[in-house]
Amino acid sequence: MTEETKTNSLKTVEWRENKVIMIDQTKLPNKLEFVELINYHQVADAIKNLVVRGAPVIGVSGAFGMALAVLQSNAQTKNDLIKDLEEAKNILIKTRPTAVNLMWALEKIMVVAHKGSDVSEIKKSVIDTAKKMADEDVQTNMTMGKIGSELFDDNDTIMTHCNAGALATVAYGTALGVIRSAKESGKNVKVIATETRPVQQGSRLTVFELKHDGIDVSLIPDTAVGYSMANGLVNKVIVGADRILRTGHVFNKIGTYQIATMAKQHGIPFYVAAPLSTFDLKSNPEDVIIEQRKASEVTGIGDNKTAPDDTNVINPAFDMTPPELISGIITEKGVANPPYEESIKKLFEAN
Ligand code: MRU
Repeated sequence: MTEETKTNSLKTVEWRENKVIMIDQTKLPNKLEFVELINYHQVADAIKNLVVRGAPVIGVSGAFGMALAVLQSNAQTKNDLIKDLEEAKNILIKTRPTAVNLMWALEKIMVVAHKGSDVSEIKKSVIDTAKKMADEDVQTNMTMGKIGSELFDDNDTIMTHCNAGALATVAYGTALGVIRSAKESGKNVKVIATETRPVQQGSRLTVFELKHDGIDVSLIPDTAVGYSMANGLVNKVIVGADRILRTGHVFNKIGTYQIATMAKQHGIPFYVAAPLSTFDLKSNPEDVIIEQRKASEVTGIGDNKTAPDDTNVINPAFDMTPPELISGIITEKGVANPPYEESIKKLFEAN
């Protein structure tokens, strides 16, 4: 680990001297490497190939992609620059379909661009907005962490799935931000992290960043969720989200639904932590596209083959957890409780 990262406390993505610097998450936990991106096509590839992943930081990375697009553009008129930005947006938006933060961020950048009166004003405001989004992401997570930490008690053992931590955001994390905040407030909390097959965000990323911060974490295989709950090893669950609908349906990493179902069976509170930028108030459950990923993620682990050649594979990256399995949704504006249609509406009205 470089000195720089220690002091930055794992800043996942950053804008530095007109370049985007990000941790290459595909290399973790074996190597902490940074990549330097100078055009939006590289950002699109990084999002697609999981160099950067996790809903909030995909949004910020998309915005930084747009910032690179304004720098790449040779447009002399506002109209031409908007056309270049539309082209960049279309490429960036196609990278991953489920996390709504990406669309949220790209649309926000387009609104800012349309407001600018000339090329140089647009270029400046797009870059400034992307940088501001990155800063606000950290603030939002810290506020959310503080609000959510009230729901956790001293000596809780908290299960989490996938990685909804510093590595899924610019820094601090959503679900892991709540855990960090509980710890910072003096509560002795422990974490159980699921491995999260097939890409292993739990073992590779969550365990990596919690150990980095000195938070007590035990790793379990995904298949040990029921065992852990039935044997009293867990008293609460917290996960992040890729998209939350106005009804409280939560789209998150594949396997979330079965953990929530199991938590209900054992009377264990199941919380979701996500910023308002993860909410999609327009779509219905059937409108949301669940990303299907390549078979090789399931037929092997790293370079090792673990299934026969030509095995048929079903590899959805996300699933949907219905509202009746969720005890509360923690946001930077407060906690939404059931019935969600009402409480989510109130959170947005107060915003
Ligand atoms: O495929 P990934 O690694 O991008 O999936 C990430 C998740 O499902 C996270 O739980 C979610 O984005 C919330 S991150 C704060």
